[in-house]
Amino acid sequence: MDGNGRWATHRRLGRSNGHRQGVEALIRTLDHAYELGVYCVSVYAFSTENWKRPKREVDKIFEILREYLRTTSSRLIQNDARFVVMGDLTPLPSDLREEIDRLRAATAHCRSHVFNMGLNYGGKSELARAVNRMLAEGTKSIDEETIGEYLDTAGLPDPDLIVRTAGEQRLSNFMIWQSAYAELYFADVLWPDFSGEDLDRAVEWYRARTRKFGDVPPGEKQQ
Ligand code: FPP
Repeated sequence: MDGNGRWATHRRLGRSNGHRQGVEALIRTLDHAYELGVYCVSVYAFSTENWKRPKREVDKIFEILREYLRTTSSRLIQNDARFVVMGDLTPLPSDLREEIDRLRAATAHCRSHVFNMGLNYGGKSELARAVNRMLAEGTKSIDEETIGEYLDTAGLPDPDLIVRTAGEQRLSNFMIWQSAYAELYFADVLWPDFSGEDLDRAVEWYRARTRKFGDVPPGEKQQ
């Protein structure tokens, strides 16, 4: 969800206005994605590196997030979407953790979709935490499947499509293990302006991809 800051700066507004508008984009994107039949939507809301931002901005993001978590349960339940989180929640303010727990519990029965939010999330930190848990449990042999089971995303499918907005073309530590075969789509639009049509364009682009997973396309097998 990149470009909140630029969206606000272009309008001579404070960066937090961009984050507020970013929440609106998130709400409409989730509704639209579920309508399109997407099972799981993961978003990068706060990275392990985002602590480097001025404390004022970090506090504001947490305030906006707290408000979002407090008010979104009925919408998620309407979408039959279960709320889950990836990331290390321990350094987050305790009232934010309480809202997270409340929303997880309120949507635990939802089965049609998943909404996965990255909070204090980083792919490298996730892998390191997974390895430490395996060591602590005395895991003797580790294969790819074992690693998947110890990641925060255990039980979720790997992403098929990753969309990054605001013209940046990198993963920035987002789901680095899970994205091994994801299709990467980059859009110039700033996140607060991201619309249903933008998502349609990304999905259309995705549908035209031939996914081979290291194999050859099915029609070319005999040659
Ligand atoms: C990236 O844009 C955005 C973030 C690091 C924060 C995302 C936070 C929100 C959308 C608000 C709260 C979260 C949720 C999910 C309710 P940027 O600030 O890096 O933009 P820039 O690159 O233009 O500066």
